Amino acid sequence: MLKDQDRIFTNIYGMQDRSLKGAMKRGHWDNTAEIIALGRDTIIERMKASGLRGRGGAGFPTGLKWSFMPKQSDGRPSYLVINADESEPGTCKDREIMRHDPHTLIEGALIASFAMNANTCYIYIRGEYIREREALQAAIDEAYDAGLLGKNAAKSGFDFDLYLHHGAGAYICGEETALIESLEGKKGMPRMKPPFPAMAGLYGCPTTVNNVESIAVVPTILRRGPEWFASFGRPNNVGTKLFAISGHVNNPCVVEEAMSITFEELIEKHCGGIRGGWDNLLAVIPGGSSVPCVRGEKMRDAIMDFDYLRGELGSGLGTAAVIVMDKQTDIVKAIWRLSKFYKHESCGQCTPCREGTGWMMRVMDRLVRGEAELEEIDMLFQVTKQVEGHTICALGDAAAWPIQGLIRNFREEIEDRIKAQKAGRISAAVAAE
Ligand code: NAI
Ligand code: SF4
Repeated sequence: MLKDQDRIFTNIYGMQDRSLKGAMKRGHWDNTAEIIALGRDTIIERMKASGLRGRGGAGFPTGLKWSFMPKQSDGRPSYLVINADESEPGTCKDREIMRHDPHTLIEGALIASFAMNANTCYIYIRGEYIREREALQAAIDEAYDAGLLGKNAAKSGFDFDLYLHHGAGAYICGEETALIESLEGKKGMPRMKPPFPAMAGLYGCPTTVNNVESIAVVPTILRRGPEWFASFGRPNNVGTKLFAISGHVNNPCVVEEAMSITFEELIEKHCGGIRGGWDNLLAVIPGGSSVPCVRGEKMRDAIMDFDYLRGELGSGLGTAAVIVMDKQTDIVKAIWRLSKFYKHESCGQCTPCREGTGWMMRVMDRLVRGEAELEEIDMLFQVTKQVEGHTICALGDAAAWPIQGLIRNFREEIEDRIKAQKAGRISAAVAAE
């Protein structure tokens, strides 16, 4: 278990003063100018050495992403955009940073922007996060008043402006290129990649989009050293990580832990165990709703990191939003609910996603009601394969994977439901309740 002294987020539960004064007492903004004086190349090299992988879900190496930004300006400004549009069902970790520890993010924004030669940074915050944006804006104002932002920010010689932009409730605006479109004042529709934002991002200029947690850990990594951060977890899966655990555990929570902790330790140490005990565990979605669910019995010893969850269990760490479902859960209905969500949030721009999410939801409707034929299970799986990998952005995959996970892991449950319906043991009305 991670020791208290190794926690980056020292105020994640809001027990202490979140203002600048309180943040400084906890070590934030301590000689920030000295970190900046290391220079761009050294900061990027250290971030690479830390092994930090993006905390927004995809796990792309952060230092490497920063290195794609142009070293010399070609006349276009560079931008850092922080993705605070946290909307993945089950995911609520960035919210805690913004409302209780906002200065970790603001200081990180300054250092990261300096490393990428970006004099301007936008934080795009989910529209529903009203209290969080109030807390963040208050912290930004304090930082300006204290000379930590603006001209010669934190006496570093670097001029830096930070703006908070509110989203308006569309899940798709968390996709980085849709977010950029939205920031530009357009409808939030994803762009084709490549070009990646580092080549042509906000207003066609070099842009890096990073998740809140990825940026908020930067000052501590640079203060304590990349080796310190890399000492937690396993190779290629290092550092400390915020896990958001919800569902049928005794104490749902957000907690910072060492990467690669086992699922059992995470749940026992921080959540007071599974509701009704381990024998009552049915399924887990380990990384937010976009990754496939896993049967409970395979999860107990699971290592909570990118490579294990993908390689060994065919799922993923994603945003580390761990959704726990016990045996009282109607798993078919739970995944049906997700397919409704993705259908609703599809931007409709590309055919496999626009039509496919509708198809998948309608077959899921029939499965929930037990009205489908057994053959439709395979047909549904084939539809998910037609959507997966054939769309402009990852929403198509995100809609397909939960259903694939359901069919792979819970086929028997789906078949039983259809058979029970045919035998008149459940009525459609009850099944759809
Ligand atoms: P991605 O794998 O396409 O990209 C990840 C990042 O790496 C992006 O910033 C991309 O620009 C960069 N990148 C990738 N390959 C590159 C290359 N060759 N050159 C330059 N840059 C490159 O994944 P994406 O679509 O950005 O994110 C998908 C993930 O987002 C999912 O795994 C899901 O877990 C997560 N997600 C998180 C949400 C949240 O609320 N935090 C909401 C929805 C999804
Ligand atoms: Fe829009 Fe879906 Fe295509 Fe993404 S995959 S661009 S959400 S239609």
